[in-house]
Amino acid sequence: MNVHAQGLDTLPYQSGFGNEFASEALPGALPVGQNSPQKVPYGLYTELLSGTAFTVPRTEARRTWLYRIRPSANHSKYKRLDRQLAHGGLGEVTPNRLRWNPIAQPQIQTDFIDGLECLTATHDAVQTTGVSVYRYAANSSMSRVFFNADGEWLVVPQAGRLRLATELGILQIGPLEIAVIPRGMRFRVELLDGAASGYVCENHGQALRLPDLGPIGSNGLANPRDFMAPVASYEERDEATELVQKYLGELWSTTLDHSPLDVVAWHGNNVPYKYDLRRFNTIGTVSFDHTDPSIFTVLTSPSSTHGMANIDFVIFPPRWMVAENTFRPPWFHRNLMNEFMGLIQGAYDAKADGFSPGGASLHSCMSAHGPDHVSTNQAINAELKPHKIDNTMAFMFETGPVLRPTRHALETATLQADYDACWSGLGKTFHREDPL
Ligand SMILES: [Fe+2]
Repeated sequence: MNVHAQGLDTLPYQSGFGNEFASEALPGALPVGQNSPQKVPYGLYTELLSGTAFTVPRTEARRTWLYRIRPSANHSKYKRLDRQLAHGGLGEVTPNRLRWNPIAQPQIQTDFIDGLECLTATHDAVQTTGVSVYRYAANSSMSRVFFNADGEWLVVPQAGRLRLATELGILQIGPLEIAVIPRGMRFRVELLDGAASGYVCENHGQALRLPDLGPIGSNGLANPRDFMAPVASYEERDEATELVQKYLGELWSTTLDHSPLDVVAWHGNNVPYKYDLRRFNTIGTVSFDHTDPSIFTVLTSPSSTHGMANIDFVIFPPRWMVAENTFRPPWFHRNLMNEFMGLIQGAYDAKADGFSPGGASLHSCMSAHGPDHVSTNQAINAELKPHKIDNTMAFMFETGPVLRPTRHALETATLQADYDACWSGLGKTFHREDPL
């Protein structure tokens, strides 16, 4: 039985996070009481998509049973595509702070896959740890279908709405929404506004999940009921369809004689889902100083070190600033964790200029950073009243493993040559004779 919970678009969804969802596009298609009966209703094939090893703790296990028109095994050899992702492998090691202007719009027909550029990664794509970070700019819907063997994708649109046709059904997202697509899930990205750009975090590690809330209690931050999984929707399309996979960082292609988005019914918890960032219950100080930015965590992928994420997805949404006697922008800091930042809309309160929507920055382990000199001077001299930071949405992919820029990221024309200059105006203000 489908639970039809409405998102901001008009598609039907199932609400919740990590649930044992179930959906069928034809009545009675979903087997009852067992996963793999001898004969499946409607002559469908049974297939399992595992997102975790079989023997992980039950609370971490992710898998979905698919009932489809043709099994996925029915394909010919994959061949390596001539056109690979803009990547170039990892670039030279640099401890420097880096920032990029927004990605340029493509001048030729470019679908979502060809529109990807890899800016940074913890290491070359391997199977079970680390992160790779991409931006995309596309002007054409995909006609081919794609899956990623290297990890799950967190898609963060900055401009243009996307229709994600997946094996489990349809998700529609736009700016200020996100979608997560499990490793191996087949999908096609269609553009609803003619052009689209944004960011993708490829998580090679443990699947993203909601963070624990500790003393916050049982409510707050991203609430489980605001996550939307699709309902079953299938294509019975017997025509040549290109299927592309990314495997160890390379694109490989085969051609099927049918659409692989042919799942008629399914049940499980290894599902694509969407979330509206405007539904995030933002929490912060009501006295003085700042809480750590972990208070803004939407989703987290744990590492094997307790408390140290493989990747935290953190947002900086509209919020009231009320801290008394406090330097209100983010403090100057040097952190163990590595910070890739992007901006969906508006301005980020620590940067007066140079960080535009669609732009990106990278501050790696122990690199010193914080507000630029313009924002710093304004904050020190501001009259402190309750103030709402509005019409903004910045985000951070924060990783435990060090992020390294790719060769492409160091050579692209969007790399800013003078990022360090934003802090160069921070002169000496020390006066031995003048205590506060
Ligand atoms: Fe930072």
